Amino acid sequence: MKVTMKVNGRQVSGEVEGRTLLSSFLREGQELTGTHIGCDTSQCGACTVHVNGKQIKSCSVFAVELEGAEVTTIEGMAAPDGTLNAIQAAFQEYHGLQCGFCTPGMVMAAAALLKDTPKPTESQIREHLQGNICRCTGYHNIVKAIMAASGQPVAAVAAE
Ligand code: FES
Ligand code: FES
Repeated sequence: MKVTMKVNGRQVSGEVEGRTLLSSFLREGQELTGTHIGCDTSQCGACTVHVNGKQIKSCSVFAVELEGAEVTTIEGMAAPDGTLNAIQAAFQEYHGLQCGFCTPGMVMAAAALLKDTPKPTESQIREHLQGNICRCTGYHNIVKAIMAASGQPVAAVAAE
């Protein structure tokens, strides 16, 4: 069956099976491989995107459910000329990544948090990231990066 949606501001459509996950539609159908698949069972958050402005794990929804939806992936976060947005730049500056596998999901989760809570506390950040697993960083520098992206001091972030 055919599904049409807007992805990163561009109208796209494709033939999918009823069981095709949004994550597969994006990666295989649209070649947007910045959306990573770590588990395919809604556990790790690596596949996090925004659908109609809300954070969602793209392995948890079928593409056909999203007819007419507006989807933003990590590829839609930087400016067209490649300039990183504030969250991406903060991850770079504060070393909020090591292998980078979790990073697209972390950035998308952080963007959703800052949209609703522009100045989150450290504990609000840690709570918000509970659905996003990072096996490398220990989260410390990720939290710092999100604090910095929200314009808050990072010096007091606890080394947990
Ligand atoms: S791949 Fe979707 S939550 Fe892990
Ligand atoms: S940076 Fe490697 S999983 Fe997070």
